[in-house]
Amino acid sequence: MKKLAFFDAKPYDKIWFDQLKESYNFKIKYFENKLNEDTAAMAAGSDGVVAFVNDTVDAPVIETLYKQGIRILALRSAGYNNVDFKAAYNKIHVVRVPAYSPYAVAEHAMALLLTLNRKIHRAYNRTRDYNFSLNGLTGFDLHGKTIGVVGTGKIGQVFIDICRGFGLQVLAYDPFPVEGKQIEYVSLSELCSKADIISLHCPLTKDTHHMINSQTLSQMRDGVVIVNTSRGALIDSEALLEAIKSKKVGAAGLDVYEEESELFFEDFSNTIIQDDILARLVSMPNVIVTSHQAFLTNEALHNIAETTLKNLKSYFDGEELKNEICYQCDKAPTCEKKHANRCF
Ligand code: NAI
Repeated sequence: MKKLAFFDAKPYDKIWFDQLKESYNFKIKYFENKLNEDTAAMAAGSDGVVAFVNDTVDAPVIETLYKQGIRILALRSAGYNNVDFKAAYNKIHVVRVPAYSPYAVAEHAMALLLTLNRKIHRAYNRTRDYNFSLNGLTGFDLHGKTIGVVGTGKIGQVFIDICRGFGLQVLAYDPFPVEGKQIEYVSLSELCSKADIISLHCPLTKDTHHMINSQTLSQMRDGVVIVNTSRGALIDSEALLEAIKSKKVGAAGLDVYEEESELFFEDFSNTIIQDDILARLVSMPNVIVTSHQAFLTNEALHNIAETTLKNLKSYFDGEELKNEICYQCDKAPTCEKKHANRCF
């Protein structure tokens, strides 16, 4: 039975991994700690490592894991911007869960948009206090408005279908457009200037880092609603805060935040938060921050556990690693996987 070191473990992860681990012949040691330089040594004695979005898989961590004999790291996420792939190459195979439920994330993006627009968060608090006033709760019809979708991969496409159900006009930006879906593609600046609502569904890369910044914000329509369920650093948070203060941005729904790694998934309700930008954003009536929870459905958690364990089993059984990713896959989606259908 192979042993796995499982970092950043939460009760909702354990439920699904515990249900499946024996059928895949794994023993799992759960650590609540995030994986980083200080905690990587905890994986000693394990055959593989399981990590999540806010674990740090940088060169020192990879070196420590490698020295402990670990050759496989399974991300239980689709995103992989937290991995130094150059450092991992030829040392540790990195596998991920490319799709577990695009519906979970797309539906959460729409939930943020509907809540912000119809002020459900405020109405909920008001009526609990028997305040039945409607002042300040006016929204707008989504029907007939224009939504700009940045990134039309698995999640973006599901989100577009949902938007079409609401009668929204969809414009999209993606350097790799999909065919046959009748999506109207425009440049990012045209999208910014025409959209009433903008929703981000692209990965965080060098190219997309701070793609929403003071310059792109200035191109947007006054009162634009921004939804980000992708990765926090797609948005320059300071520029967003200024744009909310100046009323350029009418509302923002943020499931991700660029400095989230030390905060999200944990309870800081008894602590004074030192991140002034986040604290200010959270205090705004027209901002909703959720704690990277867009993925959090039963279906997604089950699929994450199943694919992660299958990925690990494929590695230990010497089979093809179809969900492996390396720095070459990252550059061109056609990494040749030359060696026994593995990246190296
Ligand atoms: P995907 O790989 O299917 O689609 C990503 C799309 O973004 C592709 O069509 C790609 O061509 C496009 N893209 C690449 N560079 C771009 C750029 N510069 N500008 C615009 N588009 C660009 O990925 P999927 O499954 O749709 O996920 C999208 C993102 O959602 C992930 O990268 C991840 O960061 C985030 N995510 C967030 C979750 C959450 O719980 N909040 C859960 C799962 C994913």
